[in-house]
Amino acid sequence: ATTLGAAAAQSGRYFGTAVAAGRMGDSTYIGILNREFDMVTAENEMKMDATEPSQGRFSYGNADRIVNHARNQGKRIRGHALAWHSQQPGWMQNMSGTALRNAMLNHITQVASYYRGKIYAWDVVNEAFADGNSGGRRDSNLQRTGNDWIEAAFRAARAADPGAKLCYNDYNTDDWSHAKTQGVYRMVQDFKARGVPIDCVGLQSHFNSQSPVPSNYQTTLQNFANLGVDVQITELDIEGSGSGQASNYDRVTRACLAVARCTGITVWGIRDTDSWRANGTPLLFDGGGNKKAAYTSVLNALNSA
Ligand code: G3I
Repeated sequence: ATTLGAAAAQSGRYFGTAVAAGRMGDSTYIGILNREFDMVTAENEMKMDATEPSQGRFSYGNADRIVNHARNQGKRIRGHALAWHSQQPGWMQNMSGTALRNAMLNHITQVASYYRGKIYAWDVVNEAFADGNSGGRRDSNLQRTGNDWIEAAFRAARAADPGAKLCYNDYNTDDWSHAKTQGVYRMVQDFKARGVPIDCVGLQSHFNSQSPVPSNYQTTLQNFANLGVDVQITELDIEGSGSGQASNYDRVTRACLAVARCTGITVWGIRDTDSWRANGTPLLFDGGGNKKAAYTSVLNALNSA
């Protein structure tokens, strides 16, 4: 196959990208999007601050531009994200206790209901575990509403859109030996044991020289899959250039292909200049929209499956 989406589809997988509504007027950007990708994630437009800017008043304009474009083009959508400590609207940031818990649950119910039937998978909870060696939860206003906030979020999402896969999504959960990875693993294991509705784990996979692709990345994917969930690479980018970057992209792609329940890969933007880390040139297309060596290595790996 000659495009990322078609090449991934040969093994029943998808290949997606983050999309920013503000770039949708750029014909080069849209051309690559329409040609190469068959899954779309809104980079910012479905987050809590974007969809509920004042309490109880929901705003879907920019999110709908992305969702409608994707659906018109026959692409599926990963929803990102229903509950997160970051990018909360101002009114939510200083809330606490029962009021915050109820506001979070109402947000999840409203947004997931609005998009019911249109979302392949939701990142229900994003980045809830602490960095460092504790393996525990990140402190946040949501965490302070009670340790059961994550399972409450998943139950609300399931009730609102029973057809969407429900994912827990995080970063620095790629190295199997990392305490944070182990903490997320134990939570998913516990959810499965107690029947909390969870279908997938998203590994964001933002890599650079401080945080390289770990040698045990495939092991991490497989171990999560062995809990009975799908795994998805949800925000892939790898800083670098040339053959070094290409070989890292090759390794990540092949790791997914080697794990039956790794259902797809999403890169976090289209061209290097679209990236949140543009200086690191971490994506598959250069600023002019040309295919990089990293693009070719991913395409070849997908075609080898
Ligand atoms: O839209 C405003 C613009 O009006 C304003 O002039 C400008 C000035 O700062 O800010 C613009 O908003 C920025 C927005 O990106 C759109 O460009 C925000 O400040 C900025 O914080 C926001 O950054 C996003 C970041 O999440 C916020 O946490 C990045 O685009 C987005 O790529 C990034 O994505 C996250 C995932 O959601 C979760 N995992 C990590 C990943 C990378 O940080």
